[in-house]
Amino acid sequence: MNLIMLGLPGAGKGTQADKISSKYEIPHISTGNIFRNAIKNETSLGKKAKKIIDSGSLVPDEITNNIVQERLQEDDCKQGFILDGFPRTINQAEALEHFMDNMDKKLELAIYINVARDELIKRLTMRRTCKNCGAVYHLEHNPPEKKGICDKCGGKLIQRSDDKKEVVLQRLKVNEEKLKRLIDFYDKRDKLAKINSNAGIDEVFKEIDRILKEKIL
Ligand code: AP5
Ligand code: MG
Ligand code: ZN
Repeated sequence: MNLIMLGLPGAGKGTQADKISSKYEIPHISTGNIFRNAIKNETSLGKKAKKIIDSGSLVPDEITNNIVQERLQEDDCKQGFILDGFPRTINQAEALEHFMDNMDKKLELAIYINVARDELIKRLTMRRTCKNCGAVYHLEHNPPEKKGICDKCGGKLIQRSDDKKEVVLQRLKVNEEKLKRLIDFYDKRDKLAKINSNAGIDEVFKEIDRILKEKIL
């Protein structure tokens, strides 16, 4: 099962991709997490990406396309994968189509999570992320058992540097127009599933799971 998650920053792409990944045992590939790991490890990619991410802009397509192409060639992607945060531009969507064709892989579905803008801002400014493993929490909707501590690994929970209000607004601005074009791209190929997500995390997952069973499984 080869899937893509589409949605503006804060829509719940990572949260839902994690659940799909656990249930269907396919790797969750988040380009944002790949960049954040590179930043943490101070690699040359991390040094390039840090300034871009902290300003709310996008990493150049050539860099991101190469990373995803290499990642999809790894063994764990043979049974499928779920991409989160990629593609984000038409150039990336075309590149993905091209390298999936070359690998004889077929995209099953692009799952678009649609959330009202005000709600996105609340989700992002109240999000907390594990510094160690990247697990995602929300102060109200998905709090950790112990305040400030990750349930999964005991790591410290921090606010992502790009979750400050001014960067959040910039990220929304950068992504809104691009997302519309991506929705159109996958709709034309009859691969789009739209989910209205003003419901809670578990209800949204139930709806996604229902659609997966109806359309793919
Ligand atoms: P990335 O990490 O992908 O950030 P993003 O797209 O801005 O998305 P987020 O991770 O902020 O949101 P999400 O949709 O995953 O929501 P989440 O599940 O956490 O990318 C970061 C940066 O890297 C980019 O800005 C760019 O610079 C660069 N980059 C990455 N990919 C790139 C690419 N392809 N090309 C170029 N540059 C790239 O949920 C948000 C919060 O809401 C959480 O607190 C969660 O607990 C809560 N929540 C989730 N669902 C619900 C719900 N249903 N009800 C209530 N609360 C909920
Ligand atoms: Mg995410
Ligand atoms: Zn953790």
